[in-house]
Amino acid sequence: MSNSTFDFGMIGLGVMGRNLLLNMADHGFSVIGFDKDAAKGASLESAATAGTTVKGVTTLDEMVQQLSSPRKIMMLVPAGKPVDDVIESLLPLLQEGDVVIDGGNSYFGDTVRRVNYLLPKGIHFMGMGVSGGEHGARTGPSIMPGGDQNAYNHVKPLLEAIAAKVGDEPCTAYMGKNAAGHYVKMVHNGIEYAIMQLLSEAYDLLHRGMGLTNEELYEVFKTWNEGELKSFLVEITRDIFLQKDDITGKHLVDVILDKAGMKGTGKWTSQEAMNLPVAIPTIDAAVSARTLSGYKDERVQAAAIYKPVVKPVTAKKEQFIQQVGDTLYFATILCYAQGLAMLYKASEELGMDIPLDDVVKIWRGGCIIRSVLLEDFYKAYSKKKKLPNVLLDKGIARLVKKRERSARNVIKVAIANKIPGAALMNALGYYDNYTSERMSTNLIQAQRDYFGAHTYQRIDREGTFHTEWNQG
Ligand code: 6PG
Repeated sequence: MSNSTFDFGMIGLGVMGRNLLLNMADHGFSVIGFDKDAAKGASLESAATAGTTVKGVTTLDEMVQQLSSPRKIMMLVPAGKPVDDVIESLLPLLQEGDVVIDGGNSYFGDTVRRVNYLLPKGIHFMGMGVSGGEHGARTGPSIMPGGDQNAYNHVKPLLEAIAAKVGDEPCTAYMGKNAAGHYVKMVHNGIEYAIMQLLSEAYDLLHRGMGLTNEELYEVFKTWNEGELKSFLVEITRDIFLQKDDITGKHLVDVILDKAGMKGTGKWTSQEAMNLPVAIPTIDAAVSARTLSGYKDERVQAAAIYKPVVKPVTAKKEQFIQQVGDTLYFATILCYAQGLAMLYKASEELGMDIPLDDVVKIWRGGCIIRSVLLEDFYKAYSKKKKLPNVLLDKGIARLVKKRERSARNVIKVAIANKIPGAALMNALGYYDNYTSERMSTNLIQAQRDYFGAHTYQRIDREGTFHTEWNQG
C-alpha cells in the first residue's frame, strides 16, 4: 500500500485498541495501529479478517505518515499521564485540522484541559466514551463522542459503522460540547457501579437470606432476564452462578474474595455530583460499598466483636423472589434517574448541551448498562428532551409506583435480618425525599439560624428572616 492511504490510526494495541481496529476493518475501513511492542502489531495483523486492510507499526511517525488527511487518530492508553505523553509525542507529527480522539476512561477535567491546549494549535481533540468491554469493542460497542462538532463529522460515518445496532440504529451519537463524551461515560460508569451493587444486594438477600443455591440463583436470574429486568448485567450475573472453578471444582463465585476493585470512574461520578451539586445517593452507596469491601481485615475484626448473624428469611420463597425482582426494578430505575439528572444539571452548568434523548438511545445497545428499561427512558426523553428528572415522566412514575410496596417489604426484611442493603435503602431514601412536597429541612434551617444566624425563608410570606432563638 502506498503512503497516506489509511483511513484511521490507533495508538495502543491493548485488547480494546486492537478489537476496535479490527471492528473498523471489518466495516471496510483501512486501519493502522501503533504499539512499541512489535508482537502486538504482528498479532493485530494476523487476527485481521481475510481481505481487510490492517497494519501494525512500531513508531508513531510511520503511522502518522500513512494516514490520509485530515488524520483521524484514536488513542486507547491508560488514563492520566500516558495520554499527555502521547499528545506530546504526536504534536510535532500532526497538521492543522487533524482529529485526535481519546477513547479511554479519562477524567473529563483532563479532557477539557487537553481540548483547550490543542485548539490553538489547530488540532481537534475529542473525548470519547467507549463501553462494552473487549467483546463489545470487537462486535459493536456503545460509543459516546463529544467535543468539536466539525471534528465529530469527520469520524461520524466510521463510528456509526462500528457501533452496536438496535434495529438499524447505531448506538453512537454526538454527546455534546467540550468533554461531554467523557462526562457521559463517567456517569454511565457511576450507574454501572450502582446497578452492580443492587444486584449484589439482591444476591445476598436470596443467597444468605433465602438460602438459594447457585443453581437456583441461576434460574431466578434467567427468569428475570427473560422479562422486564432484561439487561446485560442481569444476563452475565445469571451465567456467573453456574461457573465452576478450575482449581477446586467449586462454584467460582464462592471462592472469589469479597474485595472489589475500582479504577476511579465511579468515585469521580460521586465527587462531581457533590460539586454540581446533584444528589446521586445510590451511586454514592455503591462507591462506598466498594471502599468498605477493601477493609477486609478490619471487617474480620469487627465481625468477631459484633457477631452479626444473618437471620434466614421466612417469607414464601416464590413470593419473596418476585418481590426482590420488583425491588431491583424499582431501585434500578432510581439509579438511572439519578445519573440522568446529573447529566441534565452538568449539561446546564458546564455548557455541554448533552442531548439526553440521544444518551439513553445509544445506551440501549452495546454498553454495560444496556437494558430494556432504556426503551422506557427513550420514550420519556423523546416526549420531553429537557426533563430535569426522568421520575417526572408519568409513564416512568407508573413503573416505579407499581413496585414501591415490594421495595419497602424487601428493605424491611434486609434490615430485620441483618443483610446489608445500603444501595437499596438509598434508592428508597432518594425516592421518599424526591417525591416529598415537604421535607424535614425546615428544622435544619432553624438550627442553622439558631447557631449561625444563617437566616431562613418562610412558607407564608416572602423575604429572609432571622430569629433571636430562646435558649435553655
Ligand atoms: C465499560 C466499562 C469499562 C470498565 C470499567 C471498570 O463501559 O465498558 O465501564 O469502561 O470495565 O471502567 O471500572 P472499574 O474498574 O472502576 O470497576
